[in-house]
Amino acid sequence: MDYKVADLSLADFGRREIRLAEHEMPGLMAVRKEYADSKPLRGAKIMGSLHMTIQTAVLIETLVELGADVRWVSCNIFSTQDHAAAAVVVGPNGTVDDPQGVPVFAWKGETLEEYWWCTDQALQWPDGTGPNMILDDGGDATLLVHKGAEYEKAGAVPTASEDDPEEWGVILDTLRRSIAEKPGRWTETAAGIKGVTEETTTGVHRLYEMARAGTLAFPAINVNDSVTKSKFDNKYGCRHSVIDGLNRATDVLIGGKVAVVCGYGDVGKGCAEALRGQGARVIVTEIDPICALQAAMDGFQVTTLEDVVDTADIFVTATGNFNIITADHMSRMKHQAIVSNIGHFDNEIDMAGLAKIPGIEKIEIKPQVHEWRFPDGHSVIILAEGRLMNLGCATGHPSFVMSNSFTNQVIAQIELFTKTDEYPIGVYTLPKHLDEKVARLHLDALGVKLTELTKEQAAYIGVDVEGPYKPDHYRY
Ligand code: NAI
Repeated sequence: MDYKVADLSLADFGRREIRLAEHEMPGLMAVRKEYADSKPLRGAKIMGSLHMTIQTAVLIETLVELGADVRWVSCNIFSTQDHAAAAVVVGPNGTVDDPQGVPVFAWKGETLEEYWWCTDQALQWPDGTGPNMILDDGGDATLLVHKGAEYEKAGAVPTASEDDPEEWGVILDTLRRSIAEKPGRWTETAAGIKGVTEETTTGVHRLYEMARAGTLAFPAINVNDSVTKSKFDNKYGCRHSVIDGLNRATDVLIGGKVAVVCGYGDVGKGCAEALRGQGARVIVTEIDPICALQAAMDGFQVTTLEDVVDTADIFVTATGNFNIITADHMSRMKHQAIVSNIGHFDNEIDMAGLAKIPGIEKIEIKPQVHEWRFPDGHSVIILAEGRLMNLGCATGHPSFVMSNSFTNQVIAQIELFTKTDEYPIGVYTLPKHLDEKVARLHLDALGVKLTELTKEQAAYIGVDVEGPYKPDHYRY
């Protein structure tokens, strides 16, 4: 088996944590049971690009139990849990000397070159073929396939310009090399893919853009916008893991501090609530009047970053947008202000601009925690080099909430793989009855007793006793 992880001897530790996580992931375990005989993913060759954590290990092994042949990478250079990666490679029945699990190409602290090499590796099966399904988080695997096919068609891979981010040059180099090795590879790969299921807001945004531009090469299911994903993982997951990230990175007392949350979408709502729960005075910034009004009515001060940049202690960006905290902002912050991002990509904080400030000094406190000292002597503390701090500095969301997200992922994979003809190229969300099914699978574990509609009540509000209980336009 080909694979590349940090240390296979961590597999036992990983396996013990996977065992605990399985108990906390009732949705995934129920899906394993439901499809134990029919194995609907038999024949599926799934390439996954999603944070290689313990929770993801349970997802991967669920896909395998349903019949899939899987290869995996992390979708971020810092988010891999090395013991999880090792356990997945060894597999439930293998040993360190005889790994029998899934090929994983991921370790914590990859360089950008290594990251894209890993993505490239996972997109190639040993027999030279590509996947027939992608499970993506943030859209990097989908991007590589699309760009590869586009440049093959154009006959050349362009050169990155000086204005392009460093990562773009790395992506182009990866494509140049792979096309030289096997001309036509990406066109063939794109043609063989039945569909992609996308995990997060930022990746979904890219998919809709491609669909609008007419460049999307295969159908996609937007998993993020299942209610049981974005209204749970993005909100309650971040409510948990934003604090975990801050604590493990700095252990600074949050109570009494002024914390700024940029963006009051699902992620921002979870972060703001958590910081308030710790006793911080939370300030929100927003560009959308609806979200700004929500934040205000939830009791948060809403103002601009400019107004608070020199007085706040902790900053968390959660916008999915770029250039939210600029180098100039950071130069005006309080001494040892903590600057962090929980959005998908690292461009919410202008790290490149920060590094270019003449005389600035970067001091490593520990991996993924850096003090940047300005020439005037004051410094800011940057978490995870501006990448998502909850996965870079901590272990991401806990199992129970990821069980909701990943049950949606498995159902979406089954939908696209088994009903390919019903999904012409486009971006889809799962039907509401499946969303409700995912929620239902998680009720027992929390001791929830659901009230049942009577037939008369169901008729009165115009729904079926078995659901769906809400129209598609309902917002929760
Ligand atoms: P969302 O679209 O619900 O929220 C983003 C909010 O930011 C919106 O309300 C928008 O109006 C606001 N915004 C945009 N530009 C802004 C600016 N310049 N200043 C202030 N506010 C601005 O998106 P969601 O679901 O909250 O996700 C946010 C990011 O977090 C995405 O990149 C997503 O992929 C990522 N994500 C990260 C997770 C993690 O575990 N770290 C989990 C789930 C999502």
